[in-house]
Amino acid sequence: MAFDPAEQRKILGSYATGVTVITTNSEPPTGLTANSVTSLSLDPPLVLFAVDKRASSLQAFKDTGCFAINILTAEQQGISNRFASPGPKDFSDLDTKTAETGAPILGTCLGWVDCRLQYILPGGDHDIFVGEIVAGEYHGGDPLLYFAGKYREVAPLSE
Ligand SMILES: Cc1cc2nc3c(=O)[nH]c(=O)nc-3n(C[C@H](O)[C@H](O)[C@H](O)COP(=O)(O)O)c2cc1C
Repeated sequence: MAFDPAEQRKILGSYATGVTVITTNSEPPTGLTANSVTSLSLDPPLVLFAVDKRASSLQAFKDTGCFAINILTAEQQGISNRFASPGPKDFSDLDTKTAETGAPILGTCLGWVDCRLQYILPGGDHDIFVGEIVAGEYHGGDPLLYFAGKYREVAPLSE
């Protein structure tokens, strides 16, 4: 029998992650909140993320062949919630710029990478997007974290 999805969520939800907004320069631009990001390879420089096959932004990522991964700061919970809602995304009040591919980059974030899509791999009810990093920048700051279905902040360990 297939493993219980609720158990899978509970167990793997305890694997704490950062939170990103991944954008692409479709017309109009779109994106989604994602924590499935992995730095895959340094040579060549590859990253991956997985998109639910039901996501409205899925086709845009396939069509444009590029994406930008924006790593959110602890102050950007509102932006995470906005990009975690299905449907068109409002960029109008966001300070954005572009680099190599034209995918929107958030002016304020912990860091970003701009990527050209290399492959789309099957991943069950998700598609796995592998991209080559063509530009990126580190800004620094405190990350927004996601753990057990809730946002968290980094806290130093007590000595
Ligand atoms: C912290 C967090 C992480 C998420 N990670 C992913 C992810 O990696 N892949 C994914 O497809 N959806 C992920 N989601 C859900 C999408 O952001 C959500 O389904 C969104 O509505 C998709 O928008 P769209 O349907 O307009 O594409 C995540 C949501 C949250 C809050």
